[in-house]
Amino acid sequence: MTQPGLAVQSSASAANKWAFPIPANVFAQTVTEVQHYTDGLFRFRITRPASFRFRSGEFVMIGLPNAERPIFRAYSIASPSWDEEVEFYSIKVPNGPLTEHLQRIKVGDTVLMRKKPTGTLVNDALIPGKRLYMFSTGTGIAPFASLIRDPETYEKFEQVILTHSCRYIDELKYGEELVALCKSDPLVGEFAKDRLVHYSSITREPFPRTGRITDLMESGKLFEDLGVAPINPEEDRGMICGSMAMLNDTKGILEKFGLEEGSNARPATFVVERAFVD
Ligand code: A2P
Repeated sequence: MTQPGLAVQSSASAANKWAFPIPANVFAQTVTEVQHYTDGLFRFRITRPASFRFRSGEFVMIGLPNAERPIFRAYSIASPSWDEEVEFYSIKVPNGPLTEHLQRIKVGDTVLMRKKPTGTLVNDALIPGKRLYMFSTGTGIAPFASLIRDPETYEKFEQVILTHSCRYIDELKYGEELVALCKSDPLVGEFAKDRLVHYSSITREPFPRTGRITDLMESGKLFEDLGVAPINPEEDRGMICGSMAMLNDTKGILEKFGLEEGSNARPATFVVERAFVD
């Protein structure tokens, strides 16, 4: 049986090693790298099909060929659109229908990826501005991992501020490695070195900077620390990715600063992501 609504490939291409045909709108790709950060966080990379095109910041549905009806979940693509592989950054949810199995993948395993990426955290959905804020909590940093490695982001904005807030210090590691990698990257390193700012905070243990990003915005500490004027619609643009509560709260604050939510169809001054994993 296939998933409802999914077309099935011809019998020739259905002759795969799984007990069921891979639907025509799904790629079966090979895992090339897995890195575990904490008991709850890991990243992995898969081969990229030549025909898979996406815009940096988009998400795609992924699953595993471990059942007749694989479970798919939305995952932000963490690699930039020029990369020859596709990277994802994931939480490990105990008993999570997908992540319970996904967290055990090894190099050489197969991951299923639907062919059509989508999403609003893309440069196209924002009107030009001076400064781009990327607000992330937890694995919400993933789409920004893609965007900060894309030269287009630096063509469009003079300064890129990546905020990443987590409960515990060890959850910042992926972002720290990513920013270091980005600053030494031959393609974007020169832009990133001068124009990418990484601003992290921790909420549940002592750290040089503590507090939710929403509180740091409302108190003005974020702007003091950065040495910039408070957010204003003339200069600033925003992208938000985190839990539903974080999205709503951050959106409310950006609106108080006078920013307006945009979309692919109607670009404006900020955009919100709505892809979740459970
Ligand atoms: P806190 O520790 O105060 O809950 P989560 O894993 O729950 O998504 O949390 C990731 C980070 O996002 C944590 O630092 C958490 O802070 C913070 N956070 C949770 N809810 C909100 C919210 N509504 N607005 C801003 N930050 C939030």
